Amino acid sequence: MNEHGRIEMCEINCEKNRPKAKNPLKIEDLTLRDGHQSLFATRGRTEDMIPVAERMDEVGFWAVEMWGGATFDTMHRYLNEDPWERIRTLKRYFKKTPFSMLLRGQNLVGYRNYADDVAELFVNRAAENGMDIFRTFDALNDFRNFECVVPVIKKCGKHFQGSICYSLTEPRMGGKVYTLEYYIKKAKELEAMGADSVCIKDMAGLMAPYDTFKLIKALKENIGIPVHLHSHFTSGMASMSHLKAVEAGVDILDTCLSPYAYRTSHPAIEPLVMTLMGTNRDTGFDIQLLASINETLEKEILPKYKHLLDDTKVSVIDTNVLLHQTPGGMLSNLVNQLRQMDALDRIGEVFKELPRVRKELGQVPLVTPTSQIVGIQTVNNVLFDTEEERYKMITAQVKDLCYGLYGKTSIPIDPEVQKKALKGYERGETPITCRPAEVLEPELEKAKKEIGDLAADEDDLILYTLFPVTGKKFLMYKYGKEEVPESMKAITLEDVKKEAELLKKLKAGELAEKSCSSDIPEKSANIRTFNVFVGDEYFEIGVDEVGGSPVLAYAQQVPAPAAPAAPATPAGTMVPPPPAAAAKPAAMPAPPAAPAPAASKAAKPAAATASASGSGVQIKAPMPGMIIKYEKNVGDSVKKGDTVVILEAMKMENALPAPTDGVIAAVNFGTGDSVAKDDILAVIE
Ligand code: CO
Repeated sequence: MNEHGRIEMCEINCEKNRPKAKNPLKIEDLTLRDGHQSLFATRGRTEDMIPVAERMDEVGFWAVEMWGGATFDTMHRYLNEDPWERIRTLKRYFKKTPFSMLLRGQNLVGYRNYADDVAELFVNRAAENGMDIFRTFDALNDFRNFECVVPVIKKCGKHFQGSICYSLTEPRMGGKVYTLEYYIKKAKELEAMGADSVCIKDMAGLMAPYDTFKLIKALKENIGIPVHLHSHFTSGMASMSHLKAVEAGVDILDTCLSPYAYRTSHPAIEPLVMTLMGTNRDTGFDIQLLASINETLEKEILPKYKHLLDDTKVSVIDTNVLLHQTPGGMLSNLVNQLRQMDALDRIGEVFKELPRVRKELGQVPLVTPTSQIVGIQTVNNVLFDTEEERYKMITAQVKDLCYGLYGKTSIPIDPEVQKKALKGYERGETPITCRPAEVLEPELEKAKKEIGDLAADEDDLILYTLFPVTGKKFLMYKYGKEEVPESMKAITLEDVKKEAELLKKLKAGELAEKSCSSDIPEKSANIRTFNVFVGDEYFEIGVDEVGGSPVLAYAQQVPAPAAPAAPATPAGTMVPPPPAAAAKPAAMPAPPAAPAPAASKAAKPAAATASASGSGVQIKAPMPGMIIKYEKNVGDSVKKGDTVVILEAMKMENALPAPTDGVIAAVNFGTGDSVAKDDILAVIE
């Protein structure tokens, strides 16, 4: 036992005012960021954080993580919330506990490297709005991607926490790339950069307890700044790793309040408080206070989010992580993506292809955004590659990675894959070796011109620069230029109760009969749609208020993903004209049309006409997604292979090429529109 980690037993005293331990373990609470990001798709709303904020401030956490990571994206995209406002609002309730955010290095809170001018302004604005600790990581552990943000963090007088992504290529620490020496070297680099603390970021829950002990002990012996551990519970090892980390002398651990803990989130704080009580590492936390916060979360907050919890399996741990060394979030993304493409039966092939793609792309750690980049490319390979040709549909992000735009990969990228990806790449076919942001043009001036007066201040401007399509939409809502869609509005506890009652009746068969009868009431404009999950089954339910009592307007059981999968259509393949009406699952009464953007409704007949003439070649969406932009307009001539439209799917951009020479006869959607798989995006004649 080294000196850092010596555990001494003292007298056990559970009083909240017990004497302070000699070397209390510090705790960062992640409930308000990683907790709901891991378990509830980052959908936590600020209004649901306020009821517990003041009590959380009393606990004595070293810091509370409440921003960064995916919050910035989901808040404006799905919740109609201004991300900046959350910091300012919560700061009014947290008067003593410092705020921490997750900063993706030069990727900030997005999925690509931004130019230095954007990175500098972002950090300045975050600090100004109330951020205290910047947990900074880079998906490739290429710390040149910290060079721009660190001086700004320091200049603002804030805490720079340098993070190292924990990754493995073998089931346990070691192998050829991610060895103990690798991590020590990286930690020393961070210390030399002026880090105020170092964090080992085990986003996938891969760290085994005895590897944790070895690693934390070695870090304590080799660097002089505090050592912090972030280990997801996903595989079930993190609670054990926590204890071994304490024994090895870790300074700070990450936990969540129990309703937001475990599964793909983090170990809970309460058992740890009890475990360390009466030792020299006692946290000093009041377990009664924690219990009172839990009660509020359980009773008043979580009923609104429970439907987001993945309850398709009973087990709280994911042994796939142990088998595939893959983050849980990445696995669920892969499953979702395959499901959307009716290809869930091919998950086995994806697991087989994944390590191969990862190795070919430089054995990168799997964390946002590299986990998505590797994951989605893997799915593309499984669905679209042929015997003769691999990497048939390469995402824009893989091209960027091959160019060096994310930084240096742990091992070199496979030269053949790199060459193929960079063929005709807009920045050039020779990869760069410098710090990536050095080749990026400043972005702010251009963004300012594009968004104009709609961005009232620098915070708006950053939102637009980072998320041009959804950010602009949000600003339209924010300034009342467009109506906020129903789907973005918060649901209330009342809504949840009504839904539960309806579901009970539905299951008892009381409503099915009524909804099958011919005299179905007209749906009103106030109808709200709920997705209701019962085990594996999924119902879409429309609820209408009539005379104060909810009336079930329709209930449609959505069939489980079809298997076997229809053969996937690669982008740009010639496809026969669609049947007159899209096949809908047989359902009791006519289900409502899938929500479709107005533009598509208006444009669809044009497509039908074009395809009915028999001479048009359709470009169909190979996967569901959102239109980023059309590179070509109606009347433009195209050559085979020219990019016609860019489709974002699972946050990756896919350039869809013209399958043939011709003239664009129809463009059926617009920027920002959501499209379903096989929607006809454009027609070439
Ligand atoms: Co995390």
